[in-house]
Amino acid sequence: MKALILSGGTGTRLRPLTYSNAKQLLPLANKPILFYIIEKIVRVGITEIGIIVGDTHEEVKKIVGSGERWGVDITYIYQEKSLGLAHAVGIAEKFLGDSDFIMLLGDNVFNMELDELITNFNSRKANSTILLYKVDNPSQFGVAVVDAGSIIKLVEKPKEFISDLIITGIYVFDNSIFKAIENIAPSPRGELEITDAIQKQLEMGGRVTYGLVQGWWKDTGKLEDMLEANMLILDEMEYKCVNYGDSSSSITGKVRVGENVIIKDSIVQGPVDIEQDTIIEGSCIGPYTSIGRGARIKDCEIDNCIILNDVHLESINKRISKSLIGKKVSIQGGVRNRRFLNSFFVGDNSQIYL
Ligand code: G1P
Repeated sequence: MKALILSGGTGTRLRPLTYSNAKQLLPLANKPILFYIIEKIVRVGITEIGIIVGDTHEEVKKIVGSGERWGVDITYIYQEKSLGLAHAVGIAEKFLGDSDFIMLLGDNVFNMELDELITNFNSRKANSTILLYKVDNPSQFGVAVVDAGSIIKLVEKPKEFISDLIITGIYVFDNSIFKAIENIAPSPRGELEITDAIQKQLEMGGRVTYGLVQGWWKDTGKLEDMLEANMLILDEMEYKCVNYGDSSSSITGKVRVGENVIIKDSIVQGPVDIEQDTIIEGSCIGPYTSIGRGARIKDCEIDNCIILNDVHLESINKRISKSLIGKKVSIQGGVRNRRFLNSFFVGDNSQIYL
């Protein structure tokens, strides 16, 4: 079996960050989202991985590389325009050949392993196997109507409610998917939808089976989903509480501290992940916060945040919460009043003086 990761999307809902960062490379607990996906693929023993890339192809290739570090071969497949998930599968046909393949969207994170879905596909001799997840608001997703354990119908972003089981973006296919893709037309958003292709497989007499997400699953397309995913991942990390910093600091809970980090006169309440070369002084950090490489944080209170590399935060008298702060951002305060500063969503290279 091979694997195909779709990493061509532009991440419009995460602008301005995605003007200067590929959304699939944004970090959760200081690790790019794509790495979590690759590691799951590696754990089921797949060694040939294709990655569909678009405008951000150079950045993705630079950070992910040849696959050597995971002992796998990565082939990059360039998609000139975002013409849909099924279009992306179509252009990967040469790479996939006759092989069965698992396909994952490059911005999905989840805490289950992939073995069960692959076993489902193999043991039930399916043409497609999809992973479903029950949600309260399914209108922004592809959904599946299921009856007595069988899939009856699949619809991409249905206007009327037909099911609360959404299609998660984790699929296993055999090569009959290519024939189905040839027989679908673009959707109202002008894309070839993989949901429509699987529906076509059903209509052509194919066998489509499904599994249900065990644990949690997140599409990280929006700020609040990124923060929640960061929280879930930090919660599950196997960190040891470290005894670090000078004696004037208190570090409790699950905290990872990288090389060459200085923590002075501060309180760090895990789960927290701090990358190398960072200086934290006179601050309260956490819980649920990841701080990228080279940060300088002085006299600040921060919780529930994702902070990218080389950020400078200083003398902010209100707690910074639920915020995603881009690379090289500098925010410096000084003015005192009682209101919280909430929900920062600031792009790379921003300068803010409060
Ligand atoms: C895509 C798929 C949709 C699926 C979703 C999962 O939607 O088209 O069927 O439910 O991913 O994240 P998109 O993110 O392109 O709107």
